Amino acid sequence: MTFTITNPRRHPEQDNPSFLTSTLSSSSVSMASLQDSLSDHGSTKDLQYDFYRDSCPDAQQIVRSKMVDAYSQQKDISAALLRLFFHDCFVHGCDASVLLDDSHGNRSFSIEKQAVPNKSLRGFDIIDRIKEEIERVCPGIVSCADIISLATRDGIILAGGPYYPVFTGRRDSIRSYYEDVLNEIPNPDDTITRILHLFLLKGFNERETVSLLGGHNIGKMSCEFIQNRLYNFNGTGKPDPTIAANFLNKIRVKCQGDNNSRVRNGLFESMDSGASNIQELASSLPSGEGFDTHYYENLMMGQGLLFADQQLMAEEKTARLVRAYASDDGSTFRLDFAAAMVKMSNLGVLTGSQGEVRLNCSLPLFSSK
Ligand code: HEM
Repeated sequence: MTFTITNPRRHPEQDNPSFLTSTLSSSSVSMASLQDSLSDHGSTKDLQYDFYRDSCPDAQQIVRSKMVDAYSQQKDISAALLRLFFHDCFVHGCDASVLLDDSHGNRSFSIEKQAVPNKSLRGFDIIDRIKEEIERVCPGIVSCADIISLATRDGIILAGGPYYPVFTGRRDSIRSYYEDVLNEIPNPDDTITRILHLFLLKGFNERETVSLLGGHNIGKMSCEFIQNRLYNFNGTGKPDPTIAANFLNKIRVKCQGDNNSRVRNGLFESMDSGASNIQELASSLPSGEGFDTHYYENLMMGQGLLFADQQLMAEEKTARLVRAYASDDGSTFRLDFAAAMVKMSNLGVLTGSQGEVRLNCSLPLFSSK
């Protein structure tokens, strides 16, 4: 697969210059490479470029303007959606199953949202707001799965990340897949072997996996996912030896006595010492600083937040990629990340007569009536 740097203004999808030309980065995935990616991943043949051009021509514009509004009030919306989207796509494909409050039309079934890895997912409210507005303009046309895909891409651009084209025409699942979440979503304590295995099951090679973990360039981690690394790693009564000593002290201070504290991905140096100021920092991160090389630089210094993050340095085949991403101005990472996001956006999609188009993103159709 080849990826080229293109002039993003030439994409017909980007027909709202006031949003996109002001936020687009120079790294983006071209239409030609998107076609390559789609044919690599055969199941997406029914997705189309601008699927709603006749049935709901304003759909993409509505997503963009709602995202611009949301981002102006809450900068961490981009991270919330990126994680939400990843957790949707990795469990039975990008079918909006993660949004459901109800499975099989029955609220007594367990749902994805209740599974441990999904308990701290955020961003459901912005998807609902976008859906509500789109339903007002074109009822029953635009799927929730397409809305998350487009909103995630727009959020990445707003956070200073690369543009990539999103084909549309996904349909929504009629059920939630609670039972699959633990098997398909990687665990914060997973080894590099398991991480690569889980990503390979979804069609991602080592390079794509390392680039996708660069999603941790933005957002926050709760201390609960890090605590055992700090004091009693694997029952040893000692900290994780892969944590750099000066960094260990810093995280211990940040997470002291409070499992609910959250630490910002990668921005320790700019924090002051209180554990409760992390929320504020999120909104003070200027757009454009997120999708750079700091995640990979931190890994090289033993400053990965999760055990799983730091595992990228545990084997030469992934450490080599980390070093490559850290070695330039971020362009290599951004190109690879954009390409991998195209691929992720097309995982296991429902198209044609499969699934349905929900009216309310948290309910299958027959319980919405
Ligand atoms: C080995 C794979 C991965 C593991 C173990 C993992 C685990 C986690 C954990 C435990 C959190 C903290 C959640 C919280 O504190 O509420 C988190 C946050 C996040 N993850 Fe991952 N993740 C992985 C891969 C990815 C990928 C592939 C992406 C996107 C491409 C991603 C995007 C994010 C983002 C943006 C956040 C911040 C969310 C926020 O601020 O609300 N992660 N991840």
